[in-house]
Amino acid sequence: MAANPARKILVTSALPYANGSLHLGHLLEQVQTDIWVRFQKSRGHDCLYVCADDAHGTAIMLTAEKLGITPEQQIANIRLEHERDSAGFLIGFDNFHTTHSQENRFWCEEIYRCLKANDHIASRAITQAFDPEKQLFLADRFIKGTCPRCKTADQYGDNCEACGATYSPADLINPVSAISGATPVQKESTHFFFKLPELETMLKEWLDSDTLQPQVANKLREWTEAGLQEWDISRDAPYFGFEIPGEPGKYFYVWLDAPIGYIASFQHYCERTGHPFDTYWRPGGDTELYHFIGKDIINFHGLFWPAMLHSAGLRTPTAIFAHGFLTVNGNKMSKSRGTFINAGTYLEHLDAEYLRYYFAAKLSSSVDDIDLNLEDFVQRVNSDVVGKIVNIASRCAGFLARGFDNQLTAECAEPELVADFIARGDGIAELFEAREFNKAMREVVAMADRANQYIDEKKPWVLAKQDDRASEVHAVCSVGVNLFRALMTYLKPVLPAMAEKAEAFLACSLDWTALQQPLLGHRLGTFQPLLTRVDPKKVEAMVEASRDATAPASSAAPATTAEVTDTIAFEDFAKVDLRIARIVAADLVEGADKLLRLTLSLGDREYQVFAGIRSAYQPADLVGKLTVMVANLAPRKMRFGVSQGMVLAAGPGGKELFLLEPHEGALPGMQVK
Ligand code: MSP
Ligand code: ZN
Repeated sequence: MAANPARKILVTSALPYANGSLHLGHLLEQVQTDIWVRFQKSRGHDCLYVCADDAHGTAIMLTAEKLGITPEQQIANIRLEHERDSAGFLIGFDNFHTTHSQENRFWCEEIYRCLKANDHIASRAITQAFDPEKQLFLADRFIKGTCPRCKTADQYGDNCEACGATYSPADLINPVSAISGATPVQKESTHFFFKLPELETMLKEWLDSDTLQPQVANKLREWTEAGLQEWDISRDAPYFGFEIPGEPGKYFYVWLDAPIGYIASFQHYCERTGHPFDTYWRPGGDTELYHFIGKDIINFHGLFWPAMLHSAGLRTPTAIFAHGFLTVNGNKMSKSRGTFINAGTYLEHLDAEYLRYYFAAKLSSSVDDIDLNLEDFVQRVNSDVVGKIVNIASRCAGFLARGFDNQLTAECAEPELVADFIARGDGIAELFEAREFNKAMREVVAMADRANQYIDEKKPWVLAKQDDRASEVHAVCSVGVNLFRALMTYLKPVLPAMAEKAEAFLACSLDWTALQQPLLGHRLGTFQPLLTRVDPKKVEAMVEASRDATAPASSAAPATTAEVTDTIAFEDFAKVDLRIARIVAADLVEGADKLLRLTLSLGDREYQVFAGIRSAYQPADLVGKLTVMVANLAPRKMRFGVSQGMVLAAGPGGKELFLLEPHEGALPGMQVK
């Protein structure tokens, strides 16, 4: 029994767009949410997890048109695929709905009515680009043209992928509609706005209320500090969405109706099951509401959504949990490299629980990006789950089946060890609650090491060969099974299918609430294999199947599209310590005809750096010169000695390789950025 009364918790993941397949980035979020929800359920809480497809907007309308189907057909097809893929990853939604539903229409109209009654809706005419051929207003990303700065053709309306310039679509040279190719004209129409500035006080309190992650609150404060703007919540026909009541030809913008989809999906659940609805969405109840989202949609959930809820007299979320983005092998997912992996492709090759474990081992409460390194993935899952956790059970199960009719000893031979494994559950639960899954996994794996060590020391396989020591074999394996049971209890939120097999073997529930006392004199079920090793060949096959041969190869040409550009975060850049250095010595390196050994001085410290610049410089010419070095590079052992940094140089190579030379007056040791 949980010591505290059951909490009533409603949890959501962001609603995936209904114009594309789920990929592993979406699954990072759903797995994170699902682990948290399963943890709460295991602790005996009344926790519900709802989601839906985000079905509205221009993009979905255009996709359907391209496919020659209605938007309704398009979203129905995608919904089947999304539900199948999420189920494949063992995501236990209590309800999965769509924003194109009657419940959502009802709540959109209801909330809009409240906003209007509170005088939080403004309307005025604005001028926008319009496609005269398609008879469609064009969002910035639907306008293309030549970059006003670097003159690269075929750039999108808000930024240039070649030179990185940002501008407004009006600045583009020769702008065209990305949909029809027609030249856009400027056209006026009336839009409706949510008067966010009127809710400034409320929002500032919300941002200071400590419910948001610190990085998230800081990011959102940039918006309030810059002065909140009214938010455009309407779009003109043709649009796939809900028409605004009393405003023919005007539709709710998809980002207005999407979060309302959380309410609608929950209402659908309540109608289906008889669960109470009101206490979850009216203020002052004893229920909790959490939204799991990615860091790209923080402003919608952290500003617009609470403001809307507040104005509509509904409760605001208890917290918003933002996570970072998934990268694969250190880079943004890429179609040419085969690392843009769809959920369905993964499932055709690999077991969902491998990835669930790997994500758990990496997820924390921060918004830092998470890397799926495919080699590390194979190694980590095989070593931790198969090699350590599963191993405990499989080492004990055979002896117990063969010699003891699957019956555990009536007394525990290691009461302290088993009690300690059970007692550690509280600490692990705190880590799960705080979304520090990586720390929880580390703790569980360390405990598994201890359990294996115990079995190694006792050597039941040696004892089993001695007739008079059968009772010791029995005792050791019974302890082993009890240790395994505690660990599997803690892993059940992460590995639900494996836990189900373990429950059949252990003949007991692996709910957290069931873990109080050791299993004594207990009869086990039959052991079945729990999880097999990850086969690296299958990982390769998955990458191969994900590779899009038509996508531009990232190494061949300079990166010109966002997808093939490997970017680093500003924080990564900030970590690079660039300093002015004086070259105090430059020497040839015997046996390496491309290298020079440079001795660089930052004034107070000297560094030895091997640089591949010999083809361009005579050592003597370098001595006394200034250059720029990376001063905080981890030292690297080379054949000729340790290199303690790097110098910056540019050029095509050969004789044309130019060391970066700062102005003579620069001082060694000075920071460059
Ligand atoms: N439809 C909106 C959300 C509306 S919520 C009221 C949307 N859809 S999405 O399909 O683009 O993304 C759904 C979720 O997946 C978002 O939380 C987004 O941050 C997350 N992710 C999409 N790509 C991702 C990664 N590469 N990595 C991690 N999460 C990512 O946004
Ligand atoms: Zn440009």
